[in-house]
This record gives sequence, C-alpha cells and structure tokens, in this order.
Amino acid sequence: MMKLPNGQTLCYGIFGYPVKHSLSPVFQSFAFNQKNINAIYVPFEVKPEDLKDAVKGAKALSIKGLNITIPHKESILGFVDEVSEEVEKIGSCNTLKFEDNTIKAYNTDYIGFKRALEEKTTLQGKKALVLGAGGTSKAIIYALTNAGAKVYLYNRTIEKALKLKEIFNIEVVEKIEDVLQYVDIIVNTTSVGLKDDDKPLFDYDKIAAHHVVFDVIYKDTLLIKKAKEKGAVGINGLPMLIYQGLESFKIWTGVDAFDLAPQIFELLTSYKP
Ligand code: ATR
Repeated sequence: MMKLPNGQTLCYGIFGYPVKHSLSPVFQSFAFNQKNINAIYVPFEVKPEDLKDAVKGAKALSIKGLNITIPHKESILGFVDEVSEEVEKIGSCNTLKFEDNTIKAYNTDYIGFKRALEEKTTLQGKKALVLGAGGTSKAIIYALTNAGAKVYLYNRTIEKALKLKEIFNIEVVEKIEDVLQYVDIIVNTTSVGLKDDDKPLFDYDKIAAHHVVFDVIYKDTLLIKKAKEKGAVGINGLPMLIYQGLESFKIWTGVDAFDLAPQIFELLTSYKP
C-alpha cells in the first residue's frame, strides 16, 4: 500500500546541478518506505550561484537532511556550522544533517567505497593505484590510507596529484605502467569510461588476474569488462552509491537500513527512469 505524505512528513533531499539523473531519490524513498519512516526525499536542482540561499531556505523549511552532489561538494562547506573529522581531512562533503539549529557536514562517500571494496578484498598492507585527483579521489584516498593500504596516485595533470601528496601520505606516479603490475588494487575515479568510446586510461589488456579493479562509474565500463575478462575482480560504482546513501540514511534517521542493500541493488540495476 502506498503511504501518502501528511502533516508530519519529514523532508530530505539532494542538491545538485544537474540532478535529473540522480538515483538517490529512487532508493532513499524506497528505504524510507521499507523502514516505515514518514519522510520524503526530493531532488533539488540548485545552481552554484544559488547554493547559499538554498541552504538557508532548507533550514527555514525544516528540511532534516540533504545529500550534496556535483558541483557543490566543496563549496557547500562555506555554509555549514560544523564538519566531521573526515570532512575536515577530505575537504568535501556529500551529506548534511540539520539538527538543533545547526548544520553538520559529513562525507559518506569514503565509507561507501570502503564497504564496497571490502566485500571483495582486505585493505591492510595492500598497494592501490588510484587514477584521478578530483573530489571523489580524495574520499577514496582517505578510505584507502585509513585502512592501511599504500596509495600510488596517477593524474593526467600531475600538479593536482602533487597537491594531494601534501595532504595524504601517498606516492605520485607519472606513468600508470610503472606500478601497474606491482599493485593489488586499481581504482578509477575519473569520468573516463562514462562514454563507451572514451579513450582508455592505459592498456587494459595489461590487467592481470591478481588485480582487484574498482570503477566509481555506476555501470560496467570497458575497464571493468576487461578486468573480468582477464580473471580479475571487477567492481562498478553501484554498490558504493548504495552504501554511501545508506550511511547518510543512518546519520539522518539513526536507522540501519543496510539489510535493504540487495533489494536496492536489484531496484537500481533494472531501473529505467
Ligand atoms: P570528481 O569530483 O567526480 O572527482 P573532478 O573533480 O572534476 O570530478 O575530477 C575529475 C578527474 O577526472 C580529474 O582527476 C581529471 O583529471 P585532470 O585533473 O587532469 O583534469 C580526470 N579526468 C577527466 N577526464 C579525463 C581524461 N579524459 N583523461 C584523464 N583524466 C581525466
């Protein structure tokens, strides 16, 4: 039976620009429904120049929690009252909680990534090659280094990688091939692979069976398809998306909904907007 909103319905949502393709409203609404929480989850398209007003508006409207996505993950920090320890270090945030007149910022991307990767491998003492040095990369490097893995970072623009070296205890590599065979884990955090005709980041035929390959893109990219073909473990970004969302859900509601992950996985795999 569909539950209709009423006067006590709480409001959650996501700020992004664009936000039309976000899968968060689909599965967060499903989770609220399954856990019998009287709440709705709304996509809000917020232009960068309107972000400050949007946050003020959200507070005024008693919105309880928000996910924050591209391109606001860093700029949002100028409008919050408190940041969690990981946000302090990562410098970007994907979750806000509104409580007692304060706005607190969290980052659940790193937890989502860690959980998705740890389903397939341990991290302590492992060597990981991270491709890309943007916002997502920082959350992933934080997760890997915190879990005791050694990170080798490659970025097309080396200056950006060198900046991250100043924050995290990592190595920067100029050529992917220099460390490819030596590492256990390969993580793509760039947008390369989103389009089927994107030029590969390196020769994917060099992936070996001992590798665990992770791509933050929500579908099986050429990288992931090749990894599986070579007998390596290939993980796409869908489990990470689900886990970061369920972690946000827990921060907002105090309810652990991780038992819903398999159903959400099914829902999103077959989801056609
Ligand atoms: P996000 O917040 O999703 O991580 P971002 O901050 O825009 O996104 O970062 C995008 C990353 O993908 C960057 O590391 C970028 O490399 P540059 O720093 O050199 O721009 C990387 N990237 C995007 N397109 C790429 C391409 N065609 N080849 C290699 N790297 C690419």
